[in-house]
Amino acid sequence: MNKIIYLDAAASYQKPETVIRAEMDFLMHNYANAGRGICARASHVDTLIENTRSCVADFIGAKSEQIVFTSGTTDSINKIVGMLKLNSEHIVAVSDLDHHSARLPFEMSGAGIVVCPLDEQLNIDVNNIPYADVFVITAMSNVIGVQQNVSEIIRCAKIKNPNVITVVDAAQSVVHSEIDVVKYDCDFLCFSGHKIGADTGVGVMYIKHPELYSPVVFGGGMVNKIMGDKILFNSSPDVFEAGTLPITQIVGLKPAIENIKQNRPDLNLIKYMYDELSKLDRVKIISKPDSAILTFVVEGMHVLDFGTLISVRGVCLRVGNMCASWIHQLLGLDGSIRISVGAYNTLQEMQTVVKYIKEIIK
Ligand SMILES: Cc1ncc(COP(=O)(O)O)c(C=O)c1O
Repeated sequence: MNKIIYLDAAASYQKPETVIRAEMDFLMHNYANAGRGICARASHVDTLIENTRSCVADFIGAKSEQIVFTSGTTDSINKIVGMLKLNSEHIVAVSDLDHHSARLPFEMSGAGIVVCPLDEQLNIDVNNIPYADVFVITAMSNVIGVQQNVSEIIRCAKIKNPNVITVVDAAQSVVHSEIDVVKYDCDFLCFSGHKIGADTGVGVMYIKHPELYSPVVFGGGMVNKIMGDKILFNSSPDVFEAGTLPITQIVGLKPAIENIKQNRPDLNLIKYMYDELSKLDRVKIISKPDSAILTFVVEGMHVLDFGTLISVRGVCLRVGNMCASWIHQLLGLDGSIRISVGAYNTLQEMQTVVKYIKEIIK
């Protein structure tokens, strides 16, 4: 068996040692539940959680009380849909760049859906922004891999409706681009820890004005006092974090952020791959030369066949519709093949993969 070459960071990033060590240290020496004890360990856990929260806040230009921990982007977006209390009178703008996680919760909410057009380069067309009550913006598609001009999209959406609520799915963009929620001027922004090298099971929901919203999940840790039939809830973020948090994963999120800030994936590797695969007649590249990921199809070969043939050579990459059916439909494709890199990938690995792809499609 060949050594594994992992080219699927966009699905989930390999973990830096600092994350693994932080979680191991926590589990071996400091473990306790959070927010429910005054013993030394419990209050230390609270400190660890708040340290991560302020690290996340700093990472995206927010304040700590605007940062809510969730289990991931999918969970964040489902919670946002609940908090917005949508009905058939609301119009939600989505786009074909959206991942199922960003768009399906809104489609299932009963609100009216309008699809924002893409321009010829497959970017959200800022010249054709529709009127909407809620605007879902995929900051970077997991198929096309191009950073969208989030500030400009939000500016244009506000021209159409100054009260529009904007929701940014930053699940992919957070890996490659600096995020500034103040510059974006968005109402909500979400990402998942595991895409930046943290563990699975932890995500972030940024809320610009938490005081405007009510929680959709109820339980322990969110209540200040119950007096008879009166319930006094805690303020944000506690009110949005009922139940036991994924504490270990939150502990690992801080070193993951510190790592990704210093150590973004080298996109020259993607450019190298783009240039090499462009030379092959049967390869049709879907992503752009300067994309953060490389997506392609091979003419005359099903993506699952390609996936099997590359997999037996020890290469882990993604084939299929990537939970992004709409962009594939728009492009008239059943699926595609995706290469994505982390800071741990090397040029040598890319050279090996080019050799394998040539073997497979010759
Ligand atoms: C653009 C985008 N949005 C949302 C998600 C969903 O993330 P999660 O499964 O971590 O909730 C993904 C995951 O691939 C994604 O790429």
